[in-house]
Amino acid sequence: GKTPVVWILPLWLRDNLLVLTVATKETEGFRRFKRSAQFFNYKIQALGLGEDWNVEKGTSAGGGQKVRLLKKALEKHADKEDLVILFTDSYDVLFASGPRELLKKFRQARSQVVFSAEELIYPDRRLEAKYPVVSDGKRFLGSGGFIGYAPNLSKLVAEWEGQDSDSDQLFYTKIFLDPEKREQINITLDHRCRIFQNLDGALGLPE
Ligand SMILES: *[C@@H]1O[C@H](CO)[C@@H](O)[C@H](O)[C@H]1NC(C)=O
Ligand SMILES: *[C@@H]1O[C@H](CO)[C@@H](O)[C@H](O)[C@H]1NC(C)=O
Repeated sequence: GKTPVVWILPLWLRDNLLVLTVATKETEGFRRFKRSAQFFNYKIQALGLGEDWNVEKGTSAGGGQKVRLLKKALEKHADKEDLVILFTDSYDVLFASGPRELLKKFRQARSQVVFSAEELIYPDRRLEAKYPVVSDGKRFLGSGGFIGYAPNLSKLVAEWEGQDSDSDQLFYTKIFLDPEKREQINITLDHRCRIFQNLDGALGLPE
């Protein structure tokens, strides 16, 4: 018979997925992260290896360096409409399933950008009143993991001009809490932890 001209690929194969993470040192946590990524066949790219980790002494915030590195890395992907990028911390992160399930759940979230959600608001508790109320699940944005289409993520980080020692979580939170930007970039939170399970403050097993 003839070879078909068009292969109809299943949805999860049509999108390309790239995992970006930041690790300035090859810590044991980073090696554990890489092992779990290899186990599930994720393609990962680590940003910042060998750099100093810039934090201001005496503060617990920080993380701006991650935004700077992400912004730089996204420059060459800004036009790739089919590229899905997962950005995640690495030292305290493990994969619990593979790319296929990740992409399926991302698509089911029906947003271009999905951030992990947390029980506790950080670093600025005064912003609580600005957060949309949710009936079920975790209410607040966590910047330790998020996933989205490359053009939308590029837009998200485009306005970063902060210091390495500024808070990445505060930066993303302020964009999310601006209703116009939230809608335009199309950002939602993974309130029900379908993609990201933040264990900080969690007791027992997830429901
Ligand atoms: C992001 O998502 C929205 C709608 O889902 C789309 O209209 C917008 O053009 C996208 N791209 C950027 C760069 O924000
Ligand atoms: C994102 O876009 C979808 C449709 O493309 C829409 O249903 C949804 O409400 C949007 N979300 C936000 C937060 O703007």
